[in-house]
Amino acid sequence: MTEVRIHEHLVEDRRGPVTWLRIDREDALGALSRSLVTRLGSYFDELHTDDEVRVLVLTGTGKGFIAGADISEYDRVPQAAFDDYQRLSRRVFTALEQLPQFTIAAVNGYALGGGFEVALCCDMILASERAKFGLPEVKLGLLPGGGGTQRLARATGIRFAKEAVVTGAFYSAQEMFERRVVSRVCVPGDLAETARTTAESIAGNAPLAVREAKRLIDQGAQTPLDVGLALEQQTLSSLYATRDGAEGIAAFLQKREPQFTGK
Ligand code: COA
Repeated sequence: MTEVRIHEHLVEDRRGPVTWLRIDREDALGALSRSLVTRLGSYFDELHTDDEVRVLVLTGTGKGFIAGADISEYDRVPQAAFDDYQRLSRRVFTALEQLPQFTIAAVNGYALGGGFEVALCCDMILASERAKFGLPEVKLGLLPGGGGTQRLARATGIRFAKEAVVTGAFYSAQEMFERRVVSRVCVPGDLAETARTTAESIAGNAPLAVREAKRLIDQGAQTPLDVGLALEQQTLSSLYATRDGAEGIAAFLQKREPQFTGK
């Protein structure tokens, strides 16, 4: 385990094919300053073409996963600067969503506003019993600006999304589990270990198959069923032709562990 500080509030830990990225801003519960969002953006851009990394785990520190935009930076800034921050975060959150790697949000504490929106851009959300989710922007006279109104509605249906956005209420990890936003709720001390074993088990599977599965499911959510099914057939056929496809089948028949190469 080697943690490298890549920004004042961001720590990276590369563990073979799994990379952990930890927001380290405990005194502000992980609030997203402009500088932090900018660094996240360049990080996701670099990661996009990094074939060494197969799974990204995003987590926070202490009581905060990410408590949203840094509200102190909203105070009396010119309209253009406010709008610019919103454009930046929208771009960076979309870059996270579009990473080819499998992404896991390990939500340790408050995931509010932009923090909930970041989690909604990940492929899987694991949460500590201490986590709290919410989109409280209406309490500031604002609205979610990083996709919250859109991605939460797609994840949970429009009625719950409207409730969450207009009340600004905080929801427990258990409630988010029941609404199928969170995959697993852990006692706080188990979150990192659950994220680790989940990430490693995904990283141990055939890299191209995992990548293509993510792509297909995301694409399928935007296309009619017949188009999605055709894409599935096409992708499966091309995976069968890969070296890893042959290796996976051979290893099963020879009763040994497969040695996947991502080819
Ligand atoms: N931006 C900037 N600073 C923030 C922040 C944010 N989004 N969220 C928390 N902080 C800071 C607090 O100002 C406080 O700093 P201080 O110690 O210098 O006063 C510190 O983090 C701890 O927060 P505090 O409010 O004292 O903790 P709490 O346990 O009483 O309450 C929350 C926690 C999450 C309920 C509360 O901090 C909160 O409502 N935060 C704002 C969430 C939000 O509206 N997010 C959407 C932004 S668009």
